[in-house]
Amino acid sequence: MLDLNRRHLLAGTAATFVAVQAGTSQAQERIVEDSRRTRFDTGWRFAFGHLNDVEKDFGYGGDLRTYAKQGIDATPVAKADYDDSQWRPVTLPHDWAVELPFVHKEPKTPLKPDDHGAVWDPAANHGYKPLGRDYPETSIGWYRKTFTLDAADKGKRISLEFDGVFRDAMVVINGYIVKRNDSGYTPFRVELNDFLNTDDKPNTVLVRVDASLGEGWFYEGAGIYRHVWLVKTDPVHIPQYGVCVRAKTDGTVEVTTTVRNDSDQAQDVYLALHWDMGVRGNIDNGTGTKLNLEPWHEVEVKLSLTEAQPHLWSLEDPFQYTVRTDILRDNRSIDAVTTRFGIRDIKFDAQTGFFLNGKSVKFKGTCNHQDHAGVGAAIPDALQRWRLQQLKDMGCNAYRASHNPPTPELLDLCDEMGILVIDETRMMTSSPEGLAQLETLIKRDRNHPSVILWSIGNEEPQQGTERGANIARTMKRLCNELDPTRLITAAMDNGYGDGITDVIDVIGFNYRDQLIDDFHAKHPDKPIIGTETASTVSTRGEYVKDDAAHIVPAYDTTAPWWASTAENWWPHFDAKPYIAGGFIWTGFDYRGEPTPYSEWPSISSQFGALDTCGFPKDNYYYYRAWWRAEPLLHLFPHWNWEGREGKEISVWAHSNADEVELFVNGKSAGRKTVTKDLHVEWIVPYQPGKIEAFAYKAGKVILKDKRETASAPAKIVLTTDRTALTNDGMDCTVIKAEVFDAKGRLVPKADNLIKFAVSGPGAVIGVGNGNPNSHEADKASERKAFNGLCCAIVQVTGAGGITVSASAEGLTGGKVNLKSA
Ligand code: GAL
Repeated sequence: MLDLNRRHLLAGTAATFVAVQAGTSQAQERIVEDSRRTRFDTGWRFAFGHLNDVEKDFGYGGDLRTYAKQGIDATPVAKADYDDSQWRPVTLPHDWAVELPFVHKEPKTPLKPDDHGAVWDPAANHGYKPLGRDYPETSIGWYRKTFTLDAADKGKRISLEFDGVFRDAMVVINGYIVKRNDSGYTPFRVELNDFLNTDDKPNTVLVRVDASLGEGWFYEGAGIYRHVWLVKTDPVHIPQYGVCVRAKTDGTVEVTTTVRNDSDQAQDVYLALHWDMGVRGNIDNGTGTKLNLEPWHEVEVKLSLTEAQPHLWSLEDPFQYTVRTDILRDNRSIDAVTTRFGIRDIKFDAQTGFFLNGKSVKFKGTCNHQDHAGVGAAIPDALQRWRLQQLKDMGCNAYRASHNPPTPELLDLCDEMGILVIDETRMMTSSPEGLAQLETLIKRDRNHPSVILWSIGNEEPQQGTERGANIARTMKRLCNELDPTRLITAAMDNGYGDGITDVIDVIGFNYRDQLIDDFHAKHPDKPIIGTETASTVSTRGEYVKDDAAHIVPAYDTTAPWWASTAENWWPHFDAKPYIAGGFIWTGFDYRGEPTPYSEWPSISSQFGALDTCGFPKDNYYYYRAWWRAEPLLHLFPHWNWEGREGKEISVWAHSNADEVELFVNGKSAGRKTVTKDLHVEWIVPYQPGKIEAFAYKAGKVILKDKRETASAPAKIVLTTDRTALTNDGMDCTVIKAEVFDAKGRLVPKADNLIKFAVSGPGAVIGVGNGNPNSHEADKASERKAFNGLCCAIVQVTGAGGITVSASAEGLTGGKVNLKSA
């Protein structure tokens, strides 16, 4: 045992311990402070450059001297005295694509339908935003910021960590090009020391971002859309991703720490591990070792801890420990990193599925891209939490980060909320760049208990080939070397049995459910998951197909040729123990890849169980009924069918009760027995009034739900699930606006233009309504309701009371009070 206690350790640094308990709901409790890092998100200025025109691109590349003389030739804007006052102030995360208007140009060559009759407009993929070769004036963004170091920073190692920039970033410090980073999803780090002004002169950091090339077939955003951190350490320090924790359920915890000495002197230090045993409040169960570090060298040190009574990480109780790795010189902490980890055991079995701590868990998963209404790809951390909470409320227990590494905050939240993750690299290639991206992903994410599989690809054309197998083998070698504790998968849509099949540990089926049984019979030792299932399409609040208006009914009835409805995949997956579960495409609607209408005016997909704002569609309740144990009853459609009096309407209920009875204007339309994993349905003639459903368990009514014919829009009601916000400059909350009639009934077709206003220290950072065909601006303070709903995302700008109000012509306004502290 070390002769040190917590007080000694804390004396050296300002690091804060936060015991992370299940169920914490405040954004501020999530972050385990790293006293070495500060957010570098504020104080930036932004301007568009130009893809082709040198003058409009601030002279960049105007002669052939860009790299000629380091520190002076890179670009004129790098100069300290460059006047950037005309550039727009921005705070990160920032996505400039979401700020741009939707643009539709007639395709250069007329579009032809594919073999299945669908027409695919390539510009639709990225959501009709003006990015790419055809839009040189909005495809290059420049970010500029000046900062001054403190006198106390003298002698420290200084670096910047970028969590993700879309894409092709060039970072320039005081005129020196110090980094180029292609990937739009892989984080990168820049060491600044040699280029910094050592006196109190300001330093200039400049980032040129080129979003003219895409990496996906979906909306990807543009700009510095994730956090940036300024990191200051002692010359002797733990580098980025320098702590790797491997914990077993027998209580052994192995911590491998990399320690660097970035100085000219050999250094004698002590590496100490202390871990926070959470509930028992004991953090003094430490260990350590002496190190003699050569100048400019690094060492890797493996130390072990033992937990006699391991508190396991699970979905119900996502308990995490924190381990603090300290470097001590003369008994004083000079560098410290706090790492969270969970103790849990994961196992795939080809016959019986997936096991967490020996307990069978069926994946009730969702695939998701990383964009949201109002903010695009620049999702504030609190909104990440909100999105995950909506999925969890639906019963979702697993998340596939499709098709790219997610933000680090998303994984922190999945750890904390008890959600399993398939972590996916963007490019399936064993090129140096491809492997470097994979390596960074694994080093960054391998401490997360939520991560259960590395995915090396998605529907890659090479999947069924020998070349694909070669590439997969190289990628797998790297995965196994960096993380022998997790298996790898890839999402396949053909070539099952060939190519990469033998290389990957767990086979991912994207759709093609009908091939699974046969595959299982032929490959009885290969675990199977549905990496993509469903792809059911529906428009929230719509119940009649209208191809001209690009509207699909929200009954669970429509899916493209490769896909299936919820009821066509889940019962099959639910019943078969050898399928470990599936991930629906998708949890949320996302921008781009508009399906089923893959042309203008559609700008977003309609696959989600929730729309782009996170408003549930009816299928959300199908999953909620069958993915959760709590009793549920959801009745639809709405009951405003003016002009269709006497005509038959299909009425559905999603329920996990024994029976459901429907009443139309008080008269029973029949009691129906619920079959597991299916809905119940009645066809009834429409008469204005009320439909009401009663759900029965063991003959007793346990739940009721109703839809009433609403009259004209009369008022706006605002609600939010969080009113107490943290004054950290980034916390935010989603404000839902609903249009009700005078009697407080939702008006199902209301499309009133709603104007939001904020008083106090808050601001609307984006609005949305979930309409896949709307071309209204996201960055605005007003939005039309779509089928009765729209939303505003309000972010704090300081401390104090905030009032958000909403008004619309002819309606009584709504109001909600928030507090930022
Ligand atoms: C899959 C693909 C996804 C998405 C989905 C739509 O083939 O992997 O990215 O395009 O289809 O159903």
